Amino acid sequence: MIPAINDTGKLLYEQIYEFYRDAIIRQKLKFNERLPSHRTLAKELGIGNNTVIRAYEQLIHEGYIKNESRKGLFVAKLDAHDWQLQPVKKPPVSPAKRPAATKPDFKLFDHLVDEKNFPLKHWRKCTNWALDHMSFQYEEHAGKDPLKEQLQQYLFYSRGVSATVDRLIIGSGTTALLFWLAFVLRKTHKEIVFEEPCYHRPRHLFSEFGYRITPVRVNDEDGIDLQKLLKRRADLLYLTPSHQYPMGSAVPVGNRIQILNWAKKNKAFIIEDDFDCEFRYKTRLMPSLQGLDKYNRVIYVGSFSSSLMPSLRVAYLVLPEDFPIDFKDSIHLTNTVPYITRRTLAYFMERGYWERHLKKMRKIYQEKYNVSIAALKKLPENCIHFNNAPSGLNIFLRINSRLSEQELIRRALDRGVSITPVSGFYHNRSNLPRQPELLFEFGNLPLSEIGNVVEKLYDAWFQSSDH
Ligand SMILES: Cc1ncc(COP(=O)(O)O)c(C=O)c1O
Repeated sequence: MIPAINDTGKLLYEQIYEFYRDAIIRQKLKFNERLPSHRTLAKELGIGNNTVIRAYEQLIHEGYIKNESRKGLFVAKLDAHDWQLQPVKKPPVSPAKRPAATKPDFKLFDHLVDEKNFPLKHWRKCTNWALDHMSFQYEEHAGKDPLKEQLQQYLFYSRGVSATVDRLIIGSGTTALLFWLAFVLRKTHKEIVFEEPCYHRPRHLFSEFGYRITPVRVNDEDGIDLQKLLKRRADLLYLTPSHQYPMGSAVPVGNRIQILNWAKKNKAFIIEDDFDCEFRYKTRLMPSLQGLDKYNRVIYVGSFSSSLMPSLRVAYLVLPEDFPIDFKDSIHLTNTVPYITRRTLAYFMERGYWERHLKKMRKIYQEKYNVSIAALKKLPENCIHFNNAPSGLNIFLRINSRLSEQELIRRALDRGVSITPVSGFYHNRSNLPRQPELLFEFGNLPLSEIGNVVEKLYDAWFQSSDH
């Protein structure tokens, strides 16, 4: 078989290669059939020998033909296969996203942080500095890690957390680190207690790993229901003791001590998620549970997601002393934060920009919190109950309405406000409250719009006859 060549723009050797490859795949040329010698073919086609040699070499290299010395070139043996010989298509273009029914003007969801007040100038400076100190090598847990050193100090002075560099692990987000932890503990730990309601992502991932999940209810006032917890046996407890997510309550010190004793008695580990701990508006920061722990039972997790920005993807985990599980072989899995980000952040902290930013944001968020509460208090009584926990970036709302959570969300969206539902944070549907609950996330709301947004919500939910 002699290929027909033409000047379609494709290289000659490619045309010859494709002709024989397709003929072999389609079995027009059968096993052990002989191909013309390169000289014969070149002569036949009126082209240079080298062009044919190049095409034949490619066919040999990919295994379509074999060169039997002194005998010639023969079709190789190929098993039957469903070859896809259609011309190569362009990759499919993902369908354009359907526009949301109504595009919200105000977003009270997704843990949005205040974007306007991010210190971009300082961040840029630190990024440039980090670029000047780039590494092109694997930097896996080798030698000194400046970010760990900065974090160690910050955690000690600000959260009372004692962390040595070898017990401090940095990864790209709380859930990524918890994923690793669930993996490391999976053979020795089987049952985990979660707050009900709680941040759903850790619960989902532990469930995916096959852990048995036990939900224990949270009170508005003091976090997880202590009496219910004390009656439970479990290997692990996931807790947000300083700022319960989503309800906002904090576990008082007396309860903390009992929870630590419970962990000691059960030989359980407590995963303390200290998310949003940086922001308390009326009192000093609540010290961490880890700082109180004398039994090495607390695994501490923190994140830069609300204190800097979620898109940074940096979080940290502190293992207790004498952690009994050997994790040497899997520690490389946590190496998920790019070196350039670690250096930038370390320098940002070292230069004091981090402290300064936190101080500034505490004031800004405090003001937003106060204005939100003032606007909620102005509403007619008994319509919207809100928790009185001056901390974090959200306010937990309980709506005194017969409308469903979905309907409330839809009506709010009609007024241009998207708001976070709480039902997804419950493990057991039977624990869902009678009155719908929502999260008013004020982090990225402009201060001047908060009153307006609260009024919009009230109008959406109560200014019609069927609420
Ligand atoms: C309780 C809790 N912990 C941690 C996080 C942050 O997770 P990450 O560090 O993956 O951004 C969130 C974010 O919503 C949260 O609600």
